[in-house]
Amino acid sequence: MDSNNVNQDLESLKIRLLADLDTCDQGGGDGLEELKVRYLGKKGEIYGLMRGMGALPADQRPAFGQMVNTLRDLAEERFAVLESRAAEQAIAAKLSASTVDPTLPGTRSELGHLHPLTVVRDDTIDFFRGMGFELAEAPEVDHEWYNFEALNIPPEHPARDMHDTFYVDEGVVMRTHTSNVQVHYLLGHEPGPVRMLAPGCVYRVDNDASHAPMFQQVECLVIDENISFSHLKGVMLLWAEHVFGKGTKLRVRPSYFPFTEPSAEVDVSCSLCGGAGCRLCKHTGWIEVGGCGSVDPAVLTQVGWDPERWTGFAFGFGIDRIALLKYGIPNIGLLTRNEAGFLRQF
Ligand code: PHE
Repeated sequence: MDSNNVNQDLESLKIRLLADLDTCDQGGGDGLEELKVRYLGKKGEIYGLMRGMGALPADQRPAFGQMVNTLRDLAEERFAVLESRAAEQAIAAKLSASTVDPTLPGTRSELGHLHPLTVVRDDTIDFFRGMGFELAEAPEVDHEWYNFEALNIPPEHPARDMHDTFYVDEGVVMRTHTSNVQVHYLLGHEPGPVRMLAPGCVYRVDNDASHAPMFQQVECLVIDENISFSHLKGVMLLWAEHVFGKGTKLRVRPSYFPFTEPSAEVDVSCSLCGGAGCRLCKHTGWIEVGGCGSVDPAVLTQVGWDPERWTGFAFGFGIDRIALLKYGIPNIGLLTRNEAGFLRQF
């Protein structure tokens, strides 16, 4: 083999390679893999050229090697182009064979949101936390002593009728109010300053547009030395303004709870008419939201706290009631019926 032959081999190999690539391309990439092995494989034709290099005079070998490398680079580049084109065609073929159209817009899954009761409860918690209150809880199924006796409501007391209690067992009740948390909390802590907030479910035998057998209350208890009724009014007003907006007015009406003395019922100015009178407030301009009072010394004595030293106030508000007012919901039962159509409005 002389040097001419070797160079001719290279030339004709290049021509053949390009022709084969063209044919393969026109054939949609068919046989691309084999073609690559034939030309670029370890035993392929391009490396085969190197073996013919021995026939060349030593001074021509580097130049020839260079030409083979250039040819190899060219081949690799062309194969890469055909390979990526073949891959694209394969995807396109798959897509056109499939009945799924990935270019169509997707169906969005519906985004949920918090239940109005949760919004009101969390907002109340945030507000009181910000004032240094600590969260507390107690059983919903409780011994009646915690729900009644310890709160100065003896067995024959008419206040027990007021509460329309669900009895679970002899002496065991579904708590009728969150005030049982006061008792558990005070028994579980050494006497000292208290700022306690207790949201939770309560139960009563009751069922109409504004009363449900299960509803949520939030109990607030503050105890320290020299706590007065005006502290109570101040805290309740701040909270009412937070929930219903600045300018909300608070009205405190004398009332009776066995565990507070003096006791009061709390009204806020109607959030709908601003106090002018409307259907929501039954044309009074006021809406009742809860009960409150100064902690009765009898309660402190029951739990072993010295009523001569410690004084305090407590209030309990219905979270459901607040949600009805805040959102203008006409019936308390709607809140717990789990109707998606209703809940979606908020
Ligand atoms: N527990 C009372 C009720 O449910 C409300 C209340 C709480 C009153 C705290 C005074 C103090 O009606």
